[in-house]
Amino acid sequence: MITSGGERANFGSKLGIVLATAGSAVGLGNVWRFPYMTGQNGGAAFILIYLGCILLLGIPGMVSEFIVGRHSQANAYRAYASFTKGKAWGLVGILGIITSTIILGFYAVVAGWCLQYLGVSLVGGLKGDTDFVQQYFVQFSGDPVKPAILGIAFILITHFIIVRGVRDGIEKASKLLMPLLFILLLVIVVASCSLPGASKGIEFLLKPDFSKVGPNVFLEALGQAFFSLSLGTACLCTYASYFTRHTHLHYSASQIAVLDFFIALLAGLMIFPAAFSVGVQPDSGPSLIFITLPNVFQQAFSFMPALGFVISIMFYALLVFAALTSTISMHEIGTAFFHEELKLRRSHAAWILTVICSVLCVFCSLSVGRSEIGIFGTSLMDACDWLTANLMLPTGALLTSILVGWVASKTVVREEFTNWETSRGKALFPFYMFCVRYIVPVCILLILMHQFGVI
Ligand code: PHE
Repeated sequence: MITSGGERANFGSKLGIVLATAGSAVGLGNVWRFPYMTGQNGGAAFILIYLGCILLLGIPGMVSEFIVGRHSQANAYRAYASFTKGKAWGLVGILGIITSTIILGFYAVVAGWCLQYLGVSLVGGLKGDTDFVQQYFVQFSGDPVKPAILGIAFILITHFIIVRGVRDGIEKASKLLMPLLFILLLVIVVASCSLPGASKGIEFLLKPDFSKVGPNVFLEALGQAFFSLSLGTACLCTYASYFTRHTHLHYSASQIAVLDFFIALLAGLMIFPAAFSVGVQPDSGPSLIFITLPNVFQQAFSFMPALGFVISIMFYALLVFAALTSTISMHEIGTAFFHEELKLRRSHAAWILTVICSVLCVFCSLSVGRSEIGIFGTSLMDACDWLTANLMLPTGALLTSILVGWVASKTVVREEFTNWETSRGKALFPFYMFCVRYIVPVCILLILMHQFGVI
């Protein structure tokens, strides 16, 4: 576990590490962002490209961040600054801290929406036809006060968990709650697929139509893969700084990536059959799950409304929990930095981050559906989302792969990868090095250059 006192501590157990890091990865990125990205980018073809990004770029990228973090045993800035002789690499850590702070700002808005949906489901307030459900979302998310308060509430919950050192309890709870989320998703998938006309949604998800692959689909898939794996924010690096010498980095990275992908796929299978069945547009954007799910809970369980009621409450509660394990990781990056670098008490360090994120959260919340509160003609919320996922995360991952693949001592990288030559996965090292030196940087560069019209 990570203690609240001044000392650095190791995670309590092997499982603790995997759970906390998986907890960071699995969150709204899978259940909220993945379906709407898939819907906007043509369905199955997007998923295939997304899978390619996870396997070829995501897993090697995760291992690289793990290596930097575990080797240095320090916060993101110091980890990057001390990994080689070039102190300037610390800027990559700073970039990660800024990125995760921005993500926390807008992520909290969506987490606040989930809190609201949990509350309304408890009082049975989401009953009505498709139009009603859509109107409800537009009205609620456009309200200037309530969503902002819920977003700040979410950041405060995260804050108190971090400063009270009760993360241990959260990690233990996730041992039970994560499998439960998985099971619940399966149940809702079955329910959603049983709705009339659901097969069109299944087809949309599983039958690739490459003619729909537009020029920026590669960048969107890359951004989604990194966002979902928490990659490029130095979050994995910060978590890995608490790993022990026995953690098999490549094994943990692969395990987490596979789990993360399946949860996203299940979320897709939960949303699209229902969306097609009730006539919600697959490319509705960030509102997609909020305007689809209440319909599933009502219509698919119309034979037994009490069951729909219980399942909806359990689902939103688990979603809130999954979001919380992710916001904790985003918060931890900045908190560890301010605590260790500015020598502040951990609680003071956490407050700095909480205040910055809350201010951002309020502006993001106010900007929903209003492009006048924003930049480049899009709302602040969408701009933060696009900028972090599609530019800042790929840049963080690109620089990390250059650092680990080209600049760092190969002996250090090899020792970390092979756990000082004790790991069974030693044979994978040359392949990993090939990915980190060539595949990861070249693919990210090509995708970014393509997006910005250079090629
Ligand atoms: N991976 C998290 C999710 O899918 C989001 C996240 C991004 C967490 C970046 C930490 C850092 O919800």
